[in-house]
Amino acid sequence: MILVTGATGTIGSAVIRRLAERGAPARSMVRDLSRASGPAVLGDFERPDTLRAAAEGAEAVLLVTPFGAGLAEHDRAMVRAAEAAGVRRIVKISAIGAEDTGDLMDVRTMHAAGELAVTSSALTWTILRPSMFATNALGWAEGIRAGLPVQNMTGKGRQGIIDPGDIADVAVEALTSAGHGGRIYTLTGPHLLSTADQVELIGKAAGRAATTVDVPPAQARAQLLEMGADPVFVEVAMTGWGFVAGGGNEIVTTDVSDVLGRPATSFAAWAETNAAAFTGQPGSSADPGGKSAG
Ligand SMILES: NC(=O)c1ccc[n+]([C@@H]2O[C@H](COP(=O)([O-])OP(=O)(O)OC[C@H]3O[C@@H](n4cnc5c(N)ncnc54)[C@H](OP(=O)(O)O)[C@@H]3O)[C@@H](O)[C@H]2O)c1
Repeated sequence: MILVTGATGTIGSAVIRRLAERGAPARSMVRDLSRASGPAVLGDFERPDTLRAAAEGAEAVLLVTPFGAGLAEHDRAMVRAAEAAGVRRIVKISAIGAEDTGDLMDVRTMHAAGELAVTSSALTWTILRPSMFATNALGWAEGIRAGLPVQNMTGKGRQGIIDPGDIADVAVEALTSAGHGGRIYTLTGPHLLSTADQVELIGKAAGRAATTVDVPPAQARAQLLEMGADPVFVEVAMTGWGFVAGGGNEIVTTDVSDVLGRPATSFAAWAETNAAAFTGQPGSSADPGGKSAG
């Protein structure tokens, strides 16, 4: 049986669907049982005492820890619980470029500490380091439908935007087949794209004009704080946007196709599949920040 954490989120829900399609026994770890589809168990990273029971009977764990200051501690707690419960295999969703940059407000530093908990454990581990998710673009949907320009915080910086469906496919392989122990995969889409490139592709897929407007860093920070965003989130976002704007995430790998034996999904294809979210057609306005098909 495979325990899937983050099971109501982008990656976890896609992994649960894929395991169900394969008939692989799986269990969602959730904070609210009414939100789970299929077998589920209660577990909360903020309450480490709940994690041991959640991991009991699992052979493998998909570790998806929500972004935030507690990320590494959550990873450590789940690893301890998994070891105590006799779990054999763990697959952690990390982030591209994970390393201790010395900046605690850098998501790469947060994930590096979480990775260390996993790689120094007694478990057979696989680390997945995805680039920017294509689904983040759903956050632009409401504005695009309203004809507003997308705010661009990353200048001309480009990224290997990845379809979370591909991340889920690789995670399922690592959870269910041999040969991925001790491996670190950097998962990207096939092309480097700037925010403007992404918005242009969305416009093409949706059949409407879609544009961007550059937002200088000081203005971006002020806007987020005015909206009441968590100051830690704001600083981490600013660090990330600055890194991307400076070209730091201009990385494309073949790890998705190496593992899956098929090409990674392009952002253009993702935009075609999810075009309805950007057009205001029936069904698209219910959850503009929601999860993509995938
Ligand atoms: N988005 C990107 O572009 C990107 C890129 C690279 C790496 N990543 C990494 O991907 C991870 C996020 O994955 P995702 O986008 O699939 O997640 P997500 O959609 O943001 O969902 C977060 C999940 O975590 C669960 N959760 C939140 N707090 C919890 C707690 N205290 N205990 C147990 N579960 C809790 C949520 O459950 P509830 O339903 O209960 O809230 C939800 O299932 C992060 O580690 C992030 O750094 C993201």
